Amino acid sequence: MRFLGVLVVMACAATGLLHGADTAIRCGKLLDVRSGELKSGLTVVSHDGTIRDVMSSSPAGIAVIDFSAYTCLPGLIDVHDHLTSDPTDSGYSSLGVSIPRQTVKGVKNARITLLAGFTTVRNVGADGFSDVALRDGINAGDVIGPRLLVSGPALGITGGHCDNNLLAPEFHYTAPSVADGPWAARTKVREVIKFGADLIKICASGGVLSKGDSPGAPQYSLEEMQAIVTEAHKLGRKVAAHAHGTQSIKDAIRAGVDSIEHSSLIDDEGIALAKQHHTYLVFDTYNHEFIMQHGIEVGMLPESIEKESHVGPMQYENFQHAYKLGAPMAFGTDGGVYPHGENARQFALMTKLGMKPIDAIRAATMNAAELLGWADRVGALEPGHFADLIAVDGDPLSNVSTLEHVRAVVKNGELVK
Ligand code: ARG
Repeated sequence: MRFLGVLVVMACAATGLLHGADTAIRCGKLLDVRSGELKSGLTVVSHDGTIRDVMSSSPAGIAVIDFSAYTCLPGLIDVHDHLTSDPTDSGYSSLGVSIPRQTVKGVKNARITLLAGFTTVRNVGADGFSDVALRDGINAGDVIGPRLLVSGPALGITGGHCDNNLLAPEFHYTAPSVADGPWAARTKVREVIKFGADLIKICASGGVLSKGDSPGAPQYSLEEMQAIVTEAHKLGRKVAAHAHGTQSIKDAIRAGVDSIEHSSLIDDEGIALAKQHHTYLVFDTYNHEFIMQHGIEVGMLPESIEKESHVGPMQYENFQHAYKLGAPMAFGTDGGVYPHGENARQFALMTKLGMKPIDAIRAATMNAAELLGWADRVGALEPGHFADLIAVDGDPLSNVSTLEHVRAVVKNGELVK
């Protein structure tokens, strides 16, 4: 038996059948995100899950996936997601959700998100390394989901947005990822990396959904963030900073973080700094709509709705301003605040706020890939990249909403939807 097994493996390896034979994906149209051109009659040829060629004729004798009725795009990327939580876990309900339960939610949401066309996701904050388990489970083929880059638990100050302020003092609860002061913060960076983090997420300012803090107020100091960034970069990890507040955004950029999450109250100086340092701005604009319409019903705190009513409209305005001034932008939605799978609804909102469709799509492909440090493997349909692509109806450049109804998804050269 054993001998036979070895023979079969050897035979397959010799004929190239073992590791995913070649596949030709025929596209009616193909969006070249770099040039912004919609090209006709192209076939994407993949070998072992990687794009080998994009050519005008289909090579003979290999399996064909026929998308000739559709437009192909690179698989989409969401750089700000929380796959292990759902909107109903908001406010005090969150206290009843165990880490194992969060991991199970992650399995559910990873699948939903992949089938919605997001083949790569950066998960920025999860309790108890549930995101590390999810990433490893996907990579091992146990469950299906996007390629994941995960942060583990988000670092923050005592009482800040990344702590948990819901319980009364006699419960003595502090989130395990709290670290005050430069050296404690450095130690925490080392610790989350030890337990599997691909990047570091920090809370530079207060937030909307946390209790008792203010989105505009700084939390981590410049000195603490400099320590975090130095340590993270030394260990080859990027840093994503939650920052709504004007001062925190500037401090975080000066400290050298790689992306600003939310970016709500950014001013002209902050935009200029982002351009100068090539720091990506991530505006989770779709959240505002969801929080104002459904926040109370899913259990968000009344104070959170109050904070959102001020922060949301400012974020819209500053998104428009930052775009006009040419700041680097990547697509991130904060999934989990709103229901997973609705990620692509943010495209229509971004274009309504004045962004060109091609720029909204670039934010979710080539820009996002660069922010992740994966520009050589995702975010474009080019040789050497993973064969991750989606098929949609019609022309996404004249109607970005078509991205909300993805017809087919290919990850690693395999049809998953
Ligand atoms: N997680 C974020 C926070 O609690 C959500 C902010 C949503 N609001 C917005 N306008 N994007 O701060």
